[in-house]
This record gives sequence, structure tokens and C-alpha cells, in this order.
Amino acid sequence: MQNNKYFNLEDTLVKNIGDSYYTIGDCINTMKNMPEKSVNTIVTSPPYNLDKKYGKYDDNKPFKEWENLIDETAKTAHKILKDNGSFLLNVSPIPDKKTKEIIPLDAIAYYIFKKNGYYLRNSIIWHFNNMQNCTNRLSGRWESILWFVKDINNYQFNLNDIRIPYITQNDKRLIGGSGRNPTDTWNFDLPESDFWYFDRVNNMTKNKLGLTEHPCIYPTAMIERIIKMTTQKGDVVLDPFLGSGTTLVATQKTERIGLGIELDERYEDIISKRIKNESIKELF
Ligand SMILES: C[S@@+](CC[C@H](N)C(=O)[O-])C[C@H]1O[C@@H](n2cnc3c(N)ncnc32)[C@H](O)[C@@H]1O
Repeated sequence: MQNNKYFNLEDTLVKNIGDSYYTIGDCINTMKNMPEKSVNTIVTSPPYNLDKKYGKYDDNKPFKEWENLIDETAKTAHKILKDNGSFLLNVSPIPDKKTKEIIPLDAIAYYIFKKNGYYLRNSIIWHFNNMQNCTNRLSGRWESILWFVKDINNYQFNLNDIRIPYITQNDKRLIGGSGRNPTDTWNFDLPESDFWYFDRVNNMTKNKLGLTEHPCIYPTAMIERIIKMTTQKGDVVLDPFLGSGTTLVATQKTERIGLGIELDERYEDIISKRIKNESIKELF
């Protein structure tokens, strides 16, 4: 059987829809087999050790095991990223299961990635409102997206592809200008604000899209912006913790080659359904 050129796996192990390719398996083993320097951008949200009910994956491990997973991910990903490649890691502050103190996963992940040879280019705040309220501390309303690059002097940053409207609409000096930098705090729905705001995917949306089976889904529009920011059309984007397939919906919409790895076969149908139903219709 012919080897799939992106994963170095037999074709039967790789599902292909449009320009999307995904496989069911462990991302560390799979990435170890992939060709070196073959991926432009990796964007992903790993499990947060929050005891989410993913199915096959146990999301309630000793914290050291979570750190090992992130360490192995950073290490194996470094080899398959191109020299000017980026890794965008979405993590959140989480409460410790026993003491309930807050653990800043982004700070811990920063040191792990730094040790593995990456440079932090931006720490982006993803702000949202639709989340439960706390009574004994401030309600959490953001997650981090850490933008790591392999080479701090050589990476793709397509600012012109992600510019947002000027705040001062009537300033004549700005007329015909190309818009402004979206900054490192993202609030999508308020053009006059510096935040990148994307609502979390709530249960109503999950019901509408038939996605109730997956507990954590990040917003497609947010991933589209990341892909446009760090890659060109036709470039290769990988999500090693694919979940319900959001990254592949975003790569289809932005005309990139999308690769995904998901441990649990129970999400296979959701992934293929989402790529077909939520990305550009003419492809199918
Ligand atoms: C936070 S979810 C990703 C959700 C995704 N961003 C989305 O929008 O649907 C993390 C996923 O990683 C998967 N996972 C856990 N360990 C894995 C591993 N070693 N290799 C591949 N996938 C893994 C889990 O089954 C889960 O679906």
C-alpha cells in the first residue's frame, strides 16, 4: 500500500476529505514518523487535565504526566516544523483539583517549550464571556494562545491578511489605509476594541451542529485568523490533538493543507461530518 506523504503511514490509516488528512492514533508516535521540516504551522489545544470526559484519554492524571505530554509534544513537533514554522498552543488557567488554587498552564508550557528550543513571539489573550460564574474568586474569562516560533529571526507573519478596522473611522489620514494590527488581546465582535473576542462553543451551538459528543471545541474563526497570520494558501497546518476537527474546518476554509491526529476513534465521524458540512461547499 502506498505511503501517505504527509504522515508516512499506509494510505488505509489516513482519511482524506478535500485537502484534509487525518488519522486516529497517538500524536507523539505519529509525529515521530512524519517527514522532518514538513509542516508550516501547528495549532492545537491539548487536554488541560481538567477531568473532561473525552473517552479514551484520561484527563485526570498526576500533573507530572500532563507536563510530560506537553514536553513530548513540543519535542517531536520541533523536528517536523519547517525552519520558519510556528506552534500556537491554546491553554487555560485551571483550578488544582485538591486545593482549588489556580495553575497557570501557559506559564508551565512556556518553560517546557523554551527548553525544547522555541521562542515566544506573542502571548495572545482569547477573551470570551459565555462561561460559568464563580462565587469565591473572579470569574475566569480568558485563555492563552502562546505563539512560539522555531527561529526568532525568520518566521511567517502575514499582518496584512489579518488587519482589523481602524478605531477612528473619520480620521481623513486613515482613509484608504489597510487597517490596524489586531494586537495580542483578541475581541472579535467589537471593531473598536483591541480584544480578540470569540464566544466559546456553547451547548446550543453544539446541539445545532450535532457536536454534543465532544466536550471542548474551540471557535473556527479564531483558528482561521491564526492560519492566515502564519501561513500562505497551500501551506501545511497540523493539529495533533484534533478533537472534533475544528482546525480542519478552518484549513479547508482558508485553502491550506490540513493534517490532524486524534487518539479516539469515536470522534472520526464528527470530524468528517464537520469538514463536509462546515467548510466550503463547492469542494464536495
Ligand atoms: C481539548 S481537545 C481538542 C478539541 C479541539 N480543539 C476541537 O475544537 O474540537 C483535546 C483532544 O486531544 C485528544 N488526545 C488526547 N491525547 C492525545 C494523543 N496522545 N494523541 C492524539 N490526540 C489526543 C483527546 O481525545 C481530545 O479529543
